[in-house]
Amino acid sequence: MTRHFLSVADLSPAKAAELLTLAHRIKTEPAAYRTALQGQTLGMIFQKRSTRTRVSFEVGMYQLGGHALFLSSQDIQIGRGETIADTAQVLSRYVDGVMARVYGHEVLEELAAHGSVPVINGLSDLLHPCQTMADALTLAERWSTPGSFDAGVLKGRKLVYVGDGNNMAHSLLYTGAVFGMDVTVVAPRGYWPDLGVMDNARALAATTGATLEVTADTVAGVRGADCVYTDVWASMGQEEEAAKRLRDFAGFQVDSAMMARANADAVFMHCLPAHRGEEVSAEVCDGPQSIIFDEAENRLHAQKAILVDLMQRG
Ligand code: CP
Ligand code: NVA
Repeated sequence: MTRHFLSVADLSPAKAAELLTLAHRIKTEPAAYRTALQGQTLGMIFQKRSTRTRVSFEVGMYQLGGHALFLSSQDIQIGRGETIADTAQVLSRYVDGVMARVYGHEVLEELAAHGSVPVINGLSDLLHPCQTMADALTLAERWSTPGSFDAGVLKGRKLVYVGDGNNMAHSLLYTGAVFGMDVTVVAPRGYWPDLGVMDNARALAATTGATLEVTADTVAGVRGADCVYTDVWASMGQEEEAAKRLRDFAGFQVDSAMMARANADAVFMHCLPAHRGEEVSAEVCDGPQSIIFDEAENRLHAQKAILVDLMQRG
């Protein structure tokens, strides 16, 4: 059966740890993987814009000996109404894997159901699993003993996500649940994570001992955080709500006062792109606790591991 990477919730804790370890190995010994995907092609469908996802997948495929094709949905026939099912079947005759950035998560499920090659979620309105695997890699590197790497160090740490209960919040909840990391989502009422995602994440967390919480309390919620994470208040596709959201999220900016309530050695993370002065102050975003560019770099390494895991033959 063809395997896909649509959600971190589909990974067993052992598989998730194996992927992080592989990502770390690929990062430290890239030459050993130079021909891992030789002659293979990844089709990359984009219904939305991207800087990190597009560039890191394209560069990653090149570094693994393969090739990536940028397929903007404006340029391929999907933009003129060709069905996802037909697109999936046709692409499967040409390429060895598909990465897609979409609005509705069901588009990814349709690509996976009708195609015969692995499908990777490059962000949907529901989830952003490549980002949170890169985030887990970044935190595990940071918290591992210098000179070693152990995905197990995530267990029992506390990540606090402050902001919209969106695709990032959902994937961070799943990632925390799978790695045994406590996750608190601090969001205004009305912007809390999806209840179905919360139920799934809590069921997973019960197997790893992670604690998951949602609160509107920006004081108590942030206390004890080892990592404070945020994302934009208006995601791609929500541009027309931006003004209302700016009002609704007042008081939820990650600024120095908020960071002061976290642990003294806490790090600040953001999937980027960031809006300084909205969800995060410039002082925090560009300050000494910020690890946003290590995080962005790790998209490349984490995704190379996902590509190798799904596509390497033999
Ligand atoms: N974080 C992230 O996915 O960035 P892009 O939208 O630039 O791909
Ligand atoms: N929540 C954001 C993430 C961007 C990487 C969005 O969906 O636009």
